[in-house]
Amino acid sequence: MNWIIILVVLTGLVVLRRFKLGMLAWLGVWWFAALVFVRFGFDVAVPMSVVKLYMGIVSLGLMAYVLSDRNRLKQVQEPLVALLTERSHAVLLGVIALAIPSAVAANIYFGMTAPAKPPVFGRTVHPAPPTELNVFDKEFDLVSLDNPYRHLEEAEPEEFATRVAHGREVYYENCFYCHGDLLAGDGMFIHGLNPIPTNFQDQGTLPILQESFVFWRITKGAPGLPEEGGPWASAMPAWEKFLNEDEVWDVILFIYDFTGARPRARHEVDH
Ligand code: HEC
Repeated sequence: MNWIIILVVLTGLVVLRRFKLGMLAWLGVWWFAALVFVRFGFDVAVPMSVVKLYMGIVSLGLMAYVLSDRNRLKQVQEPLVALLTERSHAVLLGVIALAIPSAVAANIYFGMTAPAKPPVFGRTVHPAPPTELNVFDKEFDLVSLDNPYRHLEEAEPEEFATRVAHGREVYYENCFYCHGDLLAGDGMFIHGLNPIPTNFQDQGTLPILQESFVFWRITKGAPGLPEEGGPWASAMPAWEKFLNEDEVWDVILFIYDFTGARPRARHEVDH
């Protein structure tokens, strides 16, 4: 409840009681007070459809109030009939007669000239990564960044295998819920997720990506996606909060190793 608005509305009604307002004016005041109350009286934003619904009910209520008593009906009718028939009101009538169609025309005009937005927002699955990445209290240059342990694959196969095994642990502790037991994007949490978690077995994902891109996506998750990578409903967490740098590089080694994919080499991109 927004008590300030409610207080303002109530004070307004009390103050207006001091003036001798006709029945018609009172109807207008109550209607307007109800509108302000419904529209601004709550801390949460009230959807326009709900406002319209309530104002419809308020209008019916006010109408019932007037129609239920001959005297009130007369008080409402008299000024309206006078407006329509008496010569002295001709100017006011003319203004109203012009204002109503103008308001309708303006409404249509603004409705039609609203900037055309594309109805659906196409999602770029692999948006361009930033050039610099700020993570783990360091600045990484994504253009030249490589997996620091990739070279072990040939230089020190045993240490490489240890790293992959560590990456496997990281994966089955954190990622398989969504990305699946066999990395096919079919984990038990996927129901209702849109977009669905990436299927790493798909040849259209890991082989076309550089490890620096994957590093960016894992550390920054959905919140790090630029606008074209929306919608924001992606459930991919920002793992910088839960994993350390080595854990991220190792899980990357694991997902490539498990799927047999080779990361996209830098020279394939550079020229
Ligand atoms: C809560 C579900 C969830 C968990 C847990 C999760 N992910 Fe994701 N992940 C997603 C979704 C959904 C997407 C696809 C949408 C997107 O790109 O943000 C995604 C996308 C990705 C991508 C981008 C792939 C591409 O083709 O661009 C990578 C890489 C990734 N996840 C790795 C991981 C790793 C590694 C972990 C564990 C440390 C993990 N994810 C845990 C939901 C999850």
